[in-house]
Amino acid sequence: MKIFLDTASLKEIREAAALGVVDGITTNPSLLAKEAGDPEQILLEICRTVDGPISAEVVATDAEGMVREGRHWASLHENIVVKCPCIPEGLKATKVLAGEGHRVNMTLIFSPTQALLAAKAGASFVSPFVGRLDDISTPGMELVHDIVQIFDNYSLGCEVLAASLRHPMHVVEAAKAGAHVGTMPVGVFHGLLKHPLTDIGLRRFLDDWEKAKKELAAKAVEG
Ligand code: G3P
Repeated sequence: MKIFLDTASLKEIREAAALGVVDGITTNPSLLAKEAGDPEQILLEICRTVDGPISAEVVATDAEGMVREGRHWASLHENIVVKCPCIPEGLKATKVLAGEGHRVNMTLIFSPTQALLAAKAGASFVSPFVGRLDDISTPGMELVHDIVQIFDNYSLGCEVLAASLRHPMHVVEAAKAGAHVGTMPVGVFHGLLKHPLTDIGLRRFLDDWEKAKKELAAKAVEG
């Protein structure tokens, strides 16, 4: 499963990308609004930092406006993927943008039928929001399973990008469901690697090594 970070923070992105396992970035208007500076410049810098798909979302709600904004985002850098909301106008815009060769990530997906239509319109990615369904007592991960199965049934070349992942177990479940991509906040990303037994084990190895070295040095002095 590809790992994307769900953030527009360059600081967070640089730190996490240094580990060498980040495949792409998803942003949205809420995430960009949290950052100081020109969103366009931020997106460009993100593209220069991570060589993978970088989602930039349109804010127009009519197809014409979405296409105009989408073309503009796509013109900024080859890594940009245009994010369109899963509404009727978004579907129309996706059809046009995909027809022009632009990659589209259809976002705010909350049902398998939305995902099917997004794929038929030519989206390269669909983003089911797992956590937001969990928030309303609906099992979000079932949606990921359903979409993966539907796309597999018809060999649809659209990737399932599990979004709104809130904790490492969401990532595990998304991977088990066969999601092609999981996007997550950096806190969740760092949580994927952290394990107390790894830290304890490493401490013990290093302590034992130091002890053995000291004993060897002491024997050399005696001998
Ligand atoms: O990628 C979608 C994400 O930004 C939404 O996450 O946690 O606000 O539901 P959340």
